Amino acid sequence: IKTIGVLTSGGDAPGMNAAIRAVTRTALYHGMKVMGIYRGYNGLINGDIKEMNVRSVSEIIHRGGTMLYTARCLEFKTLEGQKKAADRCRELGIDALVVIGGDGSFRGCKDMAAQGIPCIGLPGTIDNDIACSDYTIGYDTAMNTAVEMIDKLRDTTQSHDRCSVVEVMGRNAGYLALNTGIAVGALATLIPEVPFDIDRDIVQRMNDTRRTGKQHFIIIVAEGVGRAHDFAEIIEKKTGIESRATVLGHVQRGGSPTLRDRVSASQMGYHAVQLLLDGKFNRVVGTRGNDIVDFDITEALNMHKSIHTALYEMSKVISI
Ligand code: F6P
Repeated sequence: IKTIGVLTSGGDAPGMNAAIRAVTRTALYHGMKVMGIYRGYNGLINGDIKEMNVRSVSEIIHRGGTMLYTARCLEFKTLEGQKKAADRCRELGIDALVVIGGDGSFRGCKDMAAQGIPCIGLPGTIDNDIACSDYTIGYDTAMNTAVEMIDKLRDTTQSHDRCSVVEVMGRNAGYLALNTGIAVGALATLIPEVPFDIDRDIVQRMNDTRRTGKQHFIIIVAEGVGRAHDFAEIIEKKTGIESRATVLGHVQRGGSPTLRDRVSASQMGYHAVQLLLDGKFNRVVGTRGNDIVDFDITEALNMHKSIHTALYEMSKVISI
């Protein structure tokens, strides 16, 4: 492998820049040429590509977002688009790609591999919903952002003796919601992985804790279970407690990455290039505990990840 291309695809996540930096610097260190591909797979199709040097990735490790921009590309979903992207790689002498993104981006890696371009995927999403990895780039920063916002919300919720229903991101997964709920001391956290009953899991819990003297409440709902506004309306009707909805939204995707995201992203970026140096292609990098691991792309895409049920049970016990 003489030349690699690096791109970010799907939703951005804090720490993607640290990964781009690690990939670029490790590859340059080993004498490879590095091409930065802008706006995901769109950049490959349209030729939005620039050569990177060691200084191209200066001053980005502490920045949120992605210096390479990102996009979801419809054309790339077609065979014609995939052929165009592979032709572009051959035209520019790009021998392999490192793609930072989520499951959708890894399916793109598989398609590129089928067109003869070797790929390595790095898990970058605030949702932490990549099955082959315990941890995804951006997850820690997003949780810390959510906690910071909800701590502010608590002040006003408490002053008014209200209930705040907070909707956090996570797509179809509840990892972000569950950990945030524990960290902010939410009375209840609703996640898509665990069935719930509003009367039993929210209304009754609110009434029970009210009898012990509690007068304000924070309820976290993962976006995968429904809209905060709907829950707030039902809760107010059933409990008589004034309720407000807050949707944290895309603020969770921004901000300077935490130490954990910067270090994990750097390790994974470094590992991606090591794999290419070792001739190991078409793999997804991840973490298992403190270790960096990698799996065949197809195997990675077929894996399943479950919620930490003990953590969920704990959150219920300590929030009464
Ligand atoms: O995958 C990251 C994520 O922020 C999800 O949590 C959310 O459901 C989705 O992306 C939002 O996507 P968009 O940026 O297209 O609104």
